[in-house]
Amino acid sequence: MDALAGSPLGWLCVGITTLFGVTLLCMAKRSLAKKANMLVWSLLPTLLGLLSGAGLGAGGGLVVFCIVCLGTWVYLGGRALLPVGDKAVLITGSDTGIGHALAKYLDSLGFVVFAGVLNKDGPGAEELRQTCSQRLSLLQLDITNATQVKEAYLKVSEKLKNKGLWGVVNNAGILGFPADGELLPMSTYRQCMEVNFFGAVEVSKTFLPLLRKSQGRLVNMSSMAGGIPLPRYAAYGASKAALSMFSGVMRQELSKWGIKVAAIHPSGFRTGIQGTPDLWDKQEKELMENLPADTRQEYGEDYLLGLKSYLLHMPEYCAADLSPVLSAILHALLAKRPHGIYTPGKGAYIPLCIFCCFPLWFYDFFVSKMLSSDSVPRALRTSEAESKNL
Ligand SMILES: NC(=O)c1ccc[n+]([C@@H]2O[C@H](COP(=O)([O-])OP(=O)(O)OC[C@H]3O[C@@H](n4cnc5c(N)ncnc54)[C@H](OP(=O)(O)O)[C@@H]3O)[C@@H](O)[C@H]2O)c1
Repeated sequence: MDALAGSPLGWLCVGITTLFGVTLLCMAKRSLAKKANMLVWSLLPTLLGLLSGAGLGAGGGLVVFCIVCLGTWVYLGGRALLPVGDKAVLITGSDTGIGHALAKYLDSLGFVVFAGVLNKDGPGAEELRQTCSQRLSLLQLDITNATQVKEAYLKVSEKLKNKGLWGVVNNAGILGFPADGELLPMSTYRQCMEVNFFGAVEVSKTFLPLLRKSQGRLVNMSSMAGGIPLPRYAAYGASKAALSMFSGVMRQELSKWGIKVAAIHPSGFRTGIQGTPDLWDKQEKELMENLPADTRQEYGEDYLLGLKSYLLHMPEYCAADLSPVLSAILHALLAKRPHGIYTPGKGAYIPLCIFCCFPLWFYDFFVSKMLSSDSVPRALRTSEAESKNL
């Protein structure tokens, strides 16, 4: 420590850090928490520089100090947000859940919100009408209906009067019935692709000319299940994986136009997506009706009827507080340097890292432990019992 502390180089570090710290504090004008955060980040380079100075000598300490200063500056720069100003954002699927909460949140921040709803006369739309400012416009927008997408585009263009649209948040989505991929009817695969992928692609393609005008942001709500394979999510996961890949390619292609693209991969949040008992009954009936007799026999009635209990328990694993997703979307919309992928929510990041960095057998083992289930198809139970008796 003596090598740097008290030396002219040590004082230089402290001087630069003070200047760095004051600049950061000026940047964090309003929030006290932000000020404390910035202070910590501005002191970090000096501390690390002094500690390294003790081990590496004055020159080494100064090099560490400079590297940490640069790293901190780049990191904090990535967190800096653009002003809201009169930025306009279109959100799809604002009737319920994340889209609904996002419409209210962005409206409260001063955005001009175009809230696309599946049912303009429904309770979700009515609540937005009652609680949001005059800036918010409701749009009848079923994203699988090409005419409604076109009409929404014309209405938004007319309202914006030749100005660009800052953001499109492709939020609308459906879950389908979570069940083994072999059991899911083809209609579930088709519906998931129709809404979660083709709908989002059509909205993106339609509104891109308006995003180009403002060099704005395209934000796609994918899912944790779109980045990693998870049992029971063959239809939903595949449609979200397609959306994530679309986002990645668009991110690369649209950067030349100054448009930034982000995919959000949340873990579980408690919203309308988990469905209702009526919907589960309907989906279960459809699944049962489409099952070949021998598959039905092999899985067994109790396994098939138990699929629904997964949905009953789903809310226990889902967070009620949507703020991590809302913050991620806000960052994607306003950060000077938004990320390509966001992983809001408990447990969203680690499985993705394991999937990307470890061998597949290890990832599969990890998932089997994470999502261990007691239910076993009838044919496997019988063969297990037979092998025990031998
Ligand atoms: N909640 C989670 O745990 C979670 C996790 C990962 C990803 N996500 C994704 O986050 C997004 C929002 O989901 P959420 O959790 O907020 O669920 P949600 O409450 O069900 O919201 C989805 C919204 O999309 C609407 N919608 C369905 N089909 C549509 C269509 N064809 N056109 C336009 N709107 C349509 C729904 O309307 P109706 O209510 O009238 O059907 C609903 O308002 C989805 O893309 C979902 O996949 C959610």
